[in-house]
Amino acid sequence: MIGTLCTLALVPFMQQDGLDRPPPPTWHADIAPIIQTQCGDCHDSDGPGPFPLETFEDVSSRSRFIEHVVREGLMPPWLPTSGVHISGERRLTAAEKATLEAWVQAGAPEGTPLEDAMDGSDGRVAPPNNVLVRHEARMRSPWEVPAEGGVRWFKAERDKRTFVMPLGNDRPLRIQSIEYRTRASLALAATAISADNTGQARRMVDWDAEPGSYMMGDIGFNPAGSLGVVGPGGGRLVYPDGFHVEVPERSDLVSEVHFRPQGRAWTLSDAISLEETPAERPSRQLVPLNVMVRKIDLDIDEVRDFKSSIVLPMAVDLVAMTPRASRRCRSLAIKIMSPDATTATELLTIADWNPHYRETLVLEDPIRLAAGTRIDVSWTYDNTTENPRNPVIPPEVVSLGARVGSAHVLFMCAPVDPSETNRLQAFSDAETRRRQR
Ligand code: HEC
Repeated sequence: MIGTLCTLALVPFMQQDGLDRPPPPTWHADIAPIIQTQCGDCHDSDGPGPFPLETFEDVSSRSRFIEHVVREGLMPPWLPTSGVHISGERRLTAAEKATLEAWVQAGAPEGTPLEDAMDGSDGRVAPPNNVLVRHEARMRSPWEVPAEGGVRWFKAERDKRTFVMPLGNDRPLRIQSIEYRTRASLALAATAISADNTGQARRMVDWDAEPGSYMMGDIGFNPAGSLGVVGPGGGRLVYPDGFHVEVPERSDLVSEVHFRPQGRAWTLSDAISLEETPAERPSRQLVPLNVMVRKIDLDIDEVRDFKSSIVLPMAVDLVAMTPRASRRCRSLAIKIMSPDATTATELLTIADWNPHYRETLVLEDPIRLAAGTRIDVSWTYDNTTENPRNPVIPPEVVSLGARVGSAHVLFMCAPVDPSETNRLQAFSDAETRRRQR
């Protein structure tokens, strides 16, 4: 009620200067809808955001902080800076930012509740349809996220753990949507999900005394996240109609979880739900084409660009991209060069990389790339003190290596001719092997 009184007092005051200014935005009329759609998914009572942003009090008590993080582009977390349109983009429009700013300037007035309540839709991507077959996999035993981060066997990549969730499917599955479900959203950043039918992930995990393993979720040439990466705090990834990722017969799901110590222990007892495309529906398999840099070596105070390219052996539709790089990476850029080497096009730029927010970016519209198109990826690494995310200050010499790339982008591609799917997978594996030398 105090908020309402303030608003009433403020309006006549503002009009005293004789200018015919519009009344300031209010919580109920202008701000609540913005916060609900842009922040509500994460800043609710069980989401990954550190506090709820649901009520007038939640938001008005932090109005200046909120204005700051929005103005600086820190919230909502969204890595792409420019490039192709990505679906589910989390970004405030210039008009929304201006409204928020005007509201804070005016002292964050509450206004009066609107007559009709919000429709309750949360702005998330709707599942493509409701006749998909669901499959579930769960962690074999719970694991406690430690209250504080520890120095693991290799400093730069601590606070990550890999789990195996048996699926036991008796046939290959064509999966269109993947949902990572947890009750510990607050403690989780990105989760990378892949499938393993070789038993290697299980052996790796069982070797560790605790549930899960401190090793990364890369198994052979199969990178962590080859089905997709979701986050922060779990969530759902939906590939467009007509495309799926394949989970081979008798697979385990492998989840590489990046956690964020919260000063108190959280229990992970998580599950993954998969939705299968019905057998009668035509759908093309997505292959993760791995464009990678195997080793990241950096001297103290070195800033360096790492580059990698691949030339497409066949025409494909590019449906999604999943970048990976560690905290010393500042930015990354992806470009494509036409087969005749005349036209370069920007695909994606991330000017401020943050591995906490890495996720599979699904293109709003898949794009067709001709055979012979070159994909160029460049990552800028910064091992100076100026890099605010450098995990070791003063900087140390860095030497990181991973079979499927210390830095990579998985380009989720479907050959235009579906009979070429295995050839594309073999090509990707061969390219990965070639880059290991
Ligand atoms: C995709 C999930 C997500 C969305 C959407 C989101 N946040 Fe956040 N927010 C987080 C997480 C996670 C953190 C914790 C800090 C971190 O991990 O970077 C956070 C932290 C914050 C903080 C504290 C920042 C700090 O430095 O401590 C503020 C303020 C905030 N969010 C405001 C907002 C506002 C305002 C919106 C909407 C315009 C929003 N957030 C949308 C996930 C989200």
